[in-house]
Amino acid sequence: MAVTIKDVARESGVNISTVSRALNHGYGVNEQTRERVVAVAARLDYRPNRVARGLVTGRTHSLALVLSDIRNPFFAELARGAEDAARAGNCDLVLCNSDLDPDKQMQYVRSLLEKRVDGILMNSVAVLSREQQARLAACGVPIVLLNRSALNRAFSTVCADNETGGALAAKYLLGLGHRKIAHLTGPREHGNLSDRTRGFISTLQSAKDPVQPIVLRGKFNFSGGCELTKQLLDEHPDVTAIFAGNDVMAFGAVRAALDRGLRIPEDLSLIGFDNIEFASVIHPPLTTIHQPMYEMGHAAIEILLRLARDKNKQVPEHRTLGVELIERQSCRQLSCINSIAVNSCNRPASC
Ligand code: RIB
Repeated sequence: MAVTIKDVARESGVNISTVSRALNHGYGVNEQTRERVVAVAARLDYRPNRVARGLVTGRTHSLALVLSDIRNPFFAELARGAEDAARAGNCDLVLCNSDLDPDKQMQYVRSLLEKRVDGILMNSVAVLSREQQARLAACGVPIVLLNRSALNRAFSTVCADNETGGALAAKYLLGLGHRKIAHLTGPREHGNLSDRTRGFISTLQSAKDPVQPIVLRGKFNFSGGCELTKQLLDEHPDVTAIFAGNDVMAFGAVRAALDRGLRIPEDLSLIGFDNIEFASVIHPPLTTIHQPMYEMGHAAIEILLRLARDKNKQVPEHRTLGVELIERQSCRQLSCINSIAVNSCNRPASC
């Protein structure tokens, strides 16, 4: 038979209400009594009924993390930060992969709301209709997004400074003398990626001698990076540098370059975004834009916990975390000879 709160009360010599307050750090219990009750509860292996308690407090101490795909190591790192923050806040974290499919996303949200989670961290609502987004904003449970394209700024947001990250990538490639530059990225509605694209293009265009990059859009995963690079090399064989929308796309670009017998960085320079762990492990180690993934997950859950604790103060909060360029070995300086830049295999590129 499961041990009940009555058993703990009887063994401790106090009433049920005192046991409840002692175990939940409530008021009016002196330290000696609290320690005795905690010791008895531990000895009897008493497990409080959180479901019953949730009916009284209105909180389940469960949070949800709705991501597009945990297989992108960016999200694994972020999820770790989120889980550590949830645990510190005495909450469990439920993981859902939405594949950014609007139906799947809404089904998960509905199910999570029925389970009465205290808050939801989602990486994007961009694929949802305006009506679905409005329904979400009015659902009564705090929601934090990992991008900025939230309708009416109704949701809290945590993101990296993606626009600055794109600008850093552009400045770096310009500084190395690249002029035939491509950017491979995901769909326009993906807020983070579009911010990177904006920063990248505007920096290239505001250079002393403006550059118009080739922009190709597709799947923002390994196979997307691979397919887009093959398309790029077919259509623009004179390209000397690629800025990939994220690191896994950059890995796909490496695969495609190898398949075409091209060397990185000798024949093609490559820069990614995220700075996932594997970026430093691949050959050559990938130059990339670091975003603080763990800290983003942690910060987002901190906001959710604050909103979940104080239901009367539902003011959305927006945090933007800094990015930095991590220089490794996947980009090379083009040498300029008589105003013509040539790479190591002597494919000319205008300087
Ligand atoms: O969702 C895809 C991308 O957006 C990730 O790789 C990361 O860059 C995030 O910001």
